[in-house]
Amino acid sequence: MSTSSNAGLPIRQKAALGSGADFWTTKAIGDVPSMVLTDGPHGVRRQTGATDHLGLAGSEPATCFPPAVGLGQSWDRELVRKVGEALGLEARNLGVDVLLGPGINIKRDPRCGRNFEYYSEDPVLTGVLGSAWVEGLQSTGTGASLKHFAANNAEHDRMRASSDVDERTLREIYLRAFEHIVRTSDPWTVMCSYNRINGVYAAENHWLLTTVLRDEWGFDGVVVSDWGAVRDRVAAVAAGLDLQMPGGTDVPDMAVVAAAEAGTLDSAPVDRAAAAMARLGGRALQGRNVTVADPDRTAHHALAREVAGRCIVLLKNDAAVLPLSRGHHIAVIGDFAATPRYQGGGSSHVNPTEVDSPLEEIRALASPDTVSFARGFTTDGSDDDFLRPAAVETAAAADVAVVFLGLAATQESEGFDRENIELPTEQLALLAEVVARQPNTVAVLAHGGVVRLEPVARLAPAILDGALLGQAAGGALADVLYGRVNPSGRLTETVPARLQDTPAYLNFPGENSHILYGEGQFVGYRWYEARGIDVTYPFGHGLSYTSFDYSDLIVDVDASQVRVRLTITNTGDRTGREVVQIYTSKSESTVARPVRELTEFAIVDLQPGSSERITVSIERDAMAYWDVRTHQWLVENGEYDVSAGASSRDIRATARVTIAGDPVEIPLTMDTTFAELMADPNAASLLEYLAAHAPGGMKADGNGEAAGIDMAQMMASIPIGRMAAFGMSADELERMQRVIDEINE
Ligand code: BGC
Repeated sequence: MSTSSNAGLPIRQKAALGSGADFWTTKAIGDVPSMVLTDGPHGVRRQTGATDHLGLAGSEPATCFPPAVGLGQSWDRELVRKVGEALGLEARNLGVDVLLGPGINIKRDPRCGRNFEYYSEDPVLTGVLGSAWVEGLQSTGTGASLKHFAANNAEHDRMRASSDVDERTLREIYLRAFEHIVRTSDPWTVMCSYNRINGVYAAENHWLLTTVLRDEWGFDGVVVSDWGAVRDRVAAVAAGLDLQMPGGTDVPDMAVVAAAEAGTLDSAPVDRAAAAMARLGGRALQGRNVTVADPDRTAHHALAREVAGRCIVLLKNDAAVLPLSRGHHIAVIGDFAATPRYQGGGSSHVNPTEVDSPLEEIRALASPDTVSFARGFTTDGSDDDFLRPAAVETAAAADVAVVFLGLAATQESEGFDRENIELPTEQLALLAEVVARQPNTVAVLAHGGVVRLEPVARLAPAILDGALLGQAAGGALADVLYGRVNPSGRLTETVPARLQDTPAYLNFPGENSHILYGEGQFVGYRWYEARGIDVTYPFGHGLSYTSFDYSDLIVDVDASQVRVRLTITNTGDRTGREVVQIYTSKSESTVARPVRELTEFAIVDLQPGSSERITVSIERDAMAYWDVRTHQWLVENGEYDVSAGASSRDIRATARVTIAGDPVEIPLTMDTTFAELMADPNAASLLEYLAAHAPGGMKADGNGEAAGIDMAQMMASIPIGRMAAFGMSADELERMQRVIDEINE
């Protein structure tokens, strides 16, 4: 393993280490080997011929696992870890050192074209699953690349737009998953995004890449640019960038050399970047020495099917239409049953080793000759008038209709955002006509971004939401339809009733290359809960073919942890899995807070009639908010509600606990208000001083009360230094300053 920091290399070589040799590889220099980086994240896109980052040219066959939009719905860290491991094996086998994933940006708006590559609207869920993925991948000696750092939540104008976000929102929502993964899972690389953050390009953002990522979080890996994200390499190196991709030209390297020689670029950042590349090279060499089994395509396809089965969300199941009975006659309707939609477009596009056809997989599980099929529509909309009546007749003649609906690949992809969240009207028209003739209808959905489901929920008695499930989508859907797998997926994103209800509706995708994050921390369910807005399906929702009961919640607190214990009982007649979600909230707070926030979650597998007492431990620090006065995470003193629920709107039990807060020391100044003073336990001497010396009219001498005025409230927001304006003498003010100085000391 290379341990060299490359400190002795000449400046030209150090600079050369900081850019790729070509589209996917880095340069071999000194004892740093050439390394291969490749997309990611749900399959290995190893290109050996033509290269591109748009998913246009071909790549070697690789297992296409469920993209993050589907994978996240499993809420299953063990399974996500296994996917990471399988990806690592395939990457190693294809000679890849770093796989460019996971994508952990927050789904701020359902229109973002790349939401299919991201896990959730919630940063805790994203962080936990992202960590599992990184750990699985890196256990095989393949490095991860957390992307896209940071606040890259829209595709429109992505190479210029500035995400204008306040610090608390950044920390609590948009940086939180990055922080969690960097601190817990040691990713080899972080990919900085194309966009600007508060006006500064991610690649040139010293605060982001150095102050936060390295100095605060302790990241010691390589910061690689997104492909083509570097505008000014010298500024980027100074800010904290180590590797510019893609490579193939030495012009940016020469700019670094020239700046270093002219003294306009310090040697420290150049050395830092070279040392980071040397460390990455060492990790890659060590990784190549780890013995891993050759990937078994059949086993990986089976894993992809198992995982996909766990990602399917049963949104609705009135009158227990599902699971299907083998003996029933099933009408399978919809183009997507024959040609499944299972991944998104762009740089993550994988060349699958095989693709399950849902129709064939349904036939494989059904009794012979019980499945009929009609296309009903085409994704290009041609022939619908002719296809629809035949499909309706097919549905009417069966016992149950299973209608596959969704968005076509052309409707959503990396590189552009959607303009609406509607399913195609001809598909909804087909569903309406089918349901009119066949009341036992199941809708099966495929889509990368959230779609408006009110019309589907109104029509269909049962809905299975697969989002995108990877190459084994067909088999996994058949498993759930026939009850071989009891669905346990949960939504990772709220399904809003209307696009107009969504938090960023008025600020997406922004204008003049600025995107105002005006909703602040109120993203996803945090918004709908705070505003009391009806949604079609809430965050965390998902049904099962069985049912669960929650009981005996007990929460206790010690200095470092909140321990939640409760009993989950399977009250139905099938083995099933419950995803228990722990939400916390603080209603009395000095800062704005969501009604509740997901803080932890646990999975319980239960036989019919059985119970399990589970314990979920929450780090006390998970209750902290980002304090903008002191620029730190802070746990507020006081009472917190800890709830266990089956979704953000299906809270089954709540307990109240008291948590001792962190000490906050905000220096007193002449601008401190009376209210702040009253809340500060150290300020007694100043209060005494003011009681004795405040100008006459400002004393609580009873005159105010007599006139029906609440003096304390009136004075609360007055800065103490303004006493001067009401007649406090210069001497008295000076003495007051001395009392302030004494307290601050
Ligand atoms: C994408 C990255 C990807 C890179 C390389 C960029 O366009 O934003 O996610 O890893 O291309 O293909």
